Amino acid sequence: MRKMTKGMVSALALTFGLASVAAAEDVEVLHWWTAGGEAAALNVLKEDLAKQGIGWVDMPVAGGGGEAAMTALSARVTAGDPPTAVQMLGFDITDWAEQGVLGNLDAVAGPEGWDNVIPAALQAFSKYDGHWIAAPVNVHSTNWVWISKAALDKTGLAAPTTWDELIAVLDKMKENGITPLAHGGQPWQDATVFDSLVLAQGTDFYKAAFIDLDPEALGGEKMAAAFDQLLKLRSYVDDNFSGRDWNLASAMVINGEAGMQVMGDWAKGEFLKAGQKPGEGFICIRFPGTQGAVTFNADQFAMFNVKGEEKVKAQLAMASAIESPSFQSAFNVVKGSVPARTDVPDTDFDDCGKKGIKDLAEANTNGTLFGSMAHGYGAPAAVKNATYDVITAAFNGEYTDGASAAAALKDAVAAAQ
Ligand code: BGC
Repeated sequence: MRKMTKGMVSALALTFGLASVAAAEDVEVLHWWTAGGEAAALNVLKEDLAKQGIGWVDMPVAGGGGEAAMTALSARVTAGDPPTAVQMLGFDITDWAEQGVLGNLDAVAGPEGWDNVIPAALQAFSKYDGHWIAAPVNVHSTNWVWISKAALDKTGLAAPTTWDELIAVLDKMKENGITPLAHGGQPWQDATVFDSLVLAQGTDFYKAAFIDLDPEALGGEKMAAAFDQLLKLRSYVDDNFSGRDWNLASAMVINGEAGMQVMGDWAKGEFLKAGQKPGEGFICIRFPGTQGAVTFNADQFAMFNVKGEEKVKAQLAMASAIESPSFQSAFNVVKGSVPARTDVPDTDFDDCGKKGIKDLAEANTNGTLFGSMAHGYGAPAAVKNATYDVITAAFNGEYTDGASAAAALKDAVAAAQ
């Protein structure tokens, strides 16, 4: 990481004083927020920046989970022309920081006291070598289920709290003639479902497998059980699942074609955009067996080294705007995520948002908050991609049983390290 001299930092602090008054530069922002709910949230950010005189140059790269966006980013950095700000997750941030291409946000993070209000689990990725390199905009989590209230009512069953109850509800939905599970067959979506299945095997197990990459956990009985459950879930999706975008799967639940979707809370943004409300059109529950634990993925904006004082000023102004408590509330209410700061009131959030905020705080206190494997907070990209490959192969029937899939995962992760 290229270090900033003290003089540079204080020069930035000085210029930042002027930034909120008049930031002349535009920011070019690379992101993958192209679905309806995501675009609505992005507008909250654009408008907030516009009020401060910061113009927006859009660089959207569609594709949930951000893989396509990261490929586009590599091309821009290789060409020596990185965007000003980039939506990024977990280990990708650290990887770019290691290459010394990220800017330094200390000039705003310090005076604004980010150290005291951003959870340590996020800071581990927002900072490198003791310096702030990214501004977290939210905290999403992956272990949620989004259920059509009408479809659930029709089953006559309660919202499931255990695996067996989940299966009973899915079976009943099938009997009722709808697709029980809305799913998009893309590796990152398969992996998002698998996050929950592994977490449901136990919090220590999730950590051992996906954070510590312990070969015994990766190839062991609990992993085999999680894969067997994945194969079971596979039997509840429709024939056209392959390649479907996640927001189209959400739409199936919204329009009553499907019963539920296992997805991160960005799905809530789609339900809200469609005019549905928690407890009325849809309900949100933690994936059965994962109550009390949270697998998080926080979207962060990493700022690249750019030339020109005005550009740096705009980056710092953007970072500051992102961390403002009122923006954190306004943005996350629409996005489906929860604030990346611990001091933002939950007043404006709906019931799912309030639950998300409470769950995050409790998991943080209880040591049951873990980075999401599926969204780049478990391990670096090479391991994540190797894990995706095995999960997707399993979902598509390449292994006869969970035990063979677990054995393949252990080998794939070893080879990727
Ligand atoms: C991001 C979310 C995004 C989702 C689907 C996740 O990796 O964290 O912000 O909405 O992908 O695109």
